Amino acid sequence: MPRVSALEADNSDPCLQVTQIPASVTAPSLAEDAQAGLLTAPRSLPPKYLYDAVGAQLFEDITQTPEYYPTRSELALLEAHGDDILAASGASQIIELGSGSSRKTRALLAKAAAGTAYWPFDVSEQMLVDSARELRADFPQIPVHALVGDYTAGLAGVAQVLPASGRRLVLFLGGTMGNFEPAEAAAFMQALRPVLRPGDSLLLGVDRHKDSAVLEAAYNDAAGVTAAFNLNVLRVLNRELDANFDVAAFTHRSVYDAEAMQIEMHLIAKQAQVVRLGELDTHIDLAAGEVIRTEVSRKFDQPRLEALLAEAGLGLQQLWTTPEPHAYSLALAQVI
Ligand code: AVJ
Repeated sequence: MPRVSALEADNSDPCLQVTQIPASVTAPSLAEDAQAGLLTAPRSLPPKYLYDAVGAQLFEDITQTPEYYPTRSELALLEAHGDDILAASGASQIIELGSGSSRKTRALLAKAAAGTAYWPFDVSEQMLVDSARELRADFPQIPVHALVGDYTAGLAGVAQVLPASGRRLVLFLGGTMGNFEPAEAAAFMQALRPVLRPGDSLLLGVDRHKDSAVLEAAYNDAAGVTAAFNLNVLRVLNRELDANFDVAAFTHRSVYDAEAMQIEMHLIAKQAQVVRLGELDTHIDLAAGEVIRTEVSRKFDQPRLEALLAEAGLGLQQLWTTPEPHAYSLALAQVI
């Protein structure tokens, strides 16, 4: 059962609450993911390991590069259409999956009616509490109920803690949906079903299928921030798995597979090498030019988007898209 955490007790603001959401499924460990993905070609790792403290900061830095447009595009859409989104949803509960610092969501909260409650859900309790305090100071009319947990594993718990009455608007922003493989995306959408009842809405941020050159520029920025972000995962493996990857022996490259509509981030071995994975009591033999795929970021056209929404029993209600060449969309969908 979800439980109220100790942090709530010493909080003097009754409109700032923190609840732990237990995982209803257990995620594989890094050792298990490495065992399954790294030992044989095609080699790959789930993208979540890119986001240790250093990687999370590097991702923030990526969003400031001139080439990486999704964050800016999404913020522009939230600023321009926040009123329409809130009015169309009629929501009194705004739930955000993977809220982070809630920076972009401020554009929406600034326009929310008094009494609308904000429910940010993320893994880092400290980040949630810090940003919740700032939100309370800036938007005193909006109560904040922070939810601590893994939103890919705890959606059943969220359905239990939300008030039964009032319309819900679930936010899943930043194009994070694109990181899920098709089967994972379908499972995630299905897991949303108990949270979304008739009349409730989902606001989904998705990057659009487009010219390869624009996408490849966004994921291979000239200053090399994305390269540093990608290579950092090797340090994570060295630290967590007692591995000895030589970071200088790899190059970063992102390629767009236009047919699959996905950007893939690759680490490419500059030369043949043997890497120890101490924790797994094994090593990997890499040939020169061999690739480790560290992230897939799927892009959407409208049919793919509507097929995804249908997995959660949702129909597309409104779609806002930034202009070419940097097309990015916010999709508002409702339970049908
Ligand atoms: C945070 C997953 C949305 O896929 O665009 C940015 C991560 N990777 N540049 C994305 C990322 C390389 C980003 N998401």
